[in-house]
Amino acid sequence: MAPGRPATALAPMQDVTDLPFMRVIHHYGDPDYYFTEYFRVHAHSRLEPHILRSITENKTGRPVFAQMIGESIPELVKTARELRRHPVAGIDLNMGCPAPKIYKKHCGGGLLRDPARIDRVLGALREAIPGRFTVKMRIGFDSTDTFPALLDLIDKHGIDLLSLHARTVRQGYRGEAHYDYVRLAVERLSCPVLANGNILSADRALRVAAETGCHGLMIGRHAIRNPWIFRQIREAFGGAPVFRPTLGDVRGYVERLYHTTRTGACPEQLHVNKMKKYLNFLGQGVDPEGKFLYEMRRTRTEADLFTVCDRHLLTAPETPFADEPYDGVIARPNCEGPATETAAVSNR
Ligand SMILES: Cc1cc2nc3c(=O)[nH]c(=O)nc-3n(C[C@H](O)[C@H](O)[C@H](O)COP(=O)(O)O)c2cc1C
Repeated sequence: MAPGRPATALAPMQDVTDLPFMRVIHHYGDPDYYFTEYFRVHAHSRLEPHILRSITENKTGRPVFAQMIGESIPELVKTARELRRHPVAGIDLNMGCPAPKIYKKHCGGGLLRDPARIDRVLGALREAIPGRFTVKMRIGFDSTDTFPALLDLIDKHGIDLLSLHARTVRQGYRGEAHYDYVRLAVERLSCPVLANGNILSADRALRVAAETGCHGLMIGRHAIRNPWIFRQIREAFGGAPVFRPTLGDVRGYVERLYHTTRTGACPEQLHVNKMKKYLNFLGQGVDPEGKFLYEMRRTRTEADLFTVCDRHLLTAPETPFADEPYDGVIARPNCEGPATETAAVSNR
């Protein structure tokens, strides 16, 4: 990492941050750190080969942290030991996943309701991991009352890096991120802290870094929308002119995504559906009415998909791609829309 500027990290994202996606991000400008999507840990789990590939075949030249999620302490310890046989930069524990089927067990975001259990989990893993042991968590489950106690546990167990998604588990992906809790963590902890949640742009990264004093910025959905974001952040912090992609550049990104993330045997329609998951985010920067999203979501074939892309991205290819999502253009209405679904664009 360059001295004098905050670090950057690609956030772990299930079904997104696999080896092909990391290759795409590498092309546009690497973050300083990568994190794998989570390895699920349970009694019969084995390291999932497609996630493992993002470690063992990773040619980005950047450190890769392996994330785990699970309930059973002995199984977590066993999995951490297995992961350490591979070239990982560290082992990361997920304490933030808001999916009900996860948090209803004592894992992911559900752990935040039970500090005594966190104490046991972190204690056992710390003992088993001589190298870097990192945690990704939220600021609380349904309130932030226990946040100071959570930070004390992070310190007590000598965690090497904390990635903090500045929302509660109950908030899911909705609403503002509360960066004042990132500042609190930075002030209280001896380990470095990555600020996470709605780092939309290089401008937002500059602001959050200045407000919180964080070690770095972890970016998820906004790197799917804008794969140039890590480069832009480096340029902004270095005082260099910041690259501004055009809609024509975005068309090139769609093409690269399509071909890099398609595995040989994947049927066309299935791959088109997979592309929609990425394009849901990308579409937030294409047009303020969400017309691209509306049309893209209705395509079924590769030819249809690229016809829609060409119409929206190549009619005026020099048009700047919006730096931040257009207001009211929502990527995943069920997850990110307002709690009461009133936004016109999200319902189309
Ligand atoms: C599709 C998707 C999958 C995710 N999967 C994971 C995961 O496997 N592990 C994890 O810790 N967080 C996961 N997250 C949460 C992100 O890492 C990140 O904390 C969250 O999206 C907020 O950051 P952002 O505003 O930069 O996207 C996921 C988020 C999304 C959108």
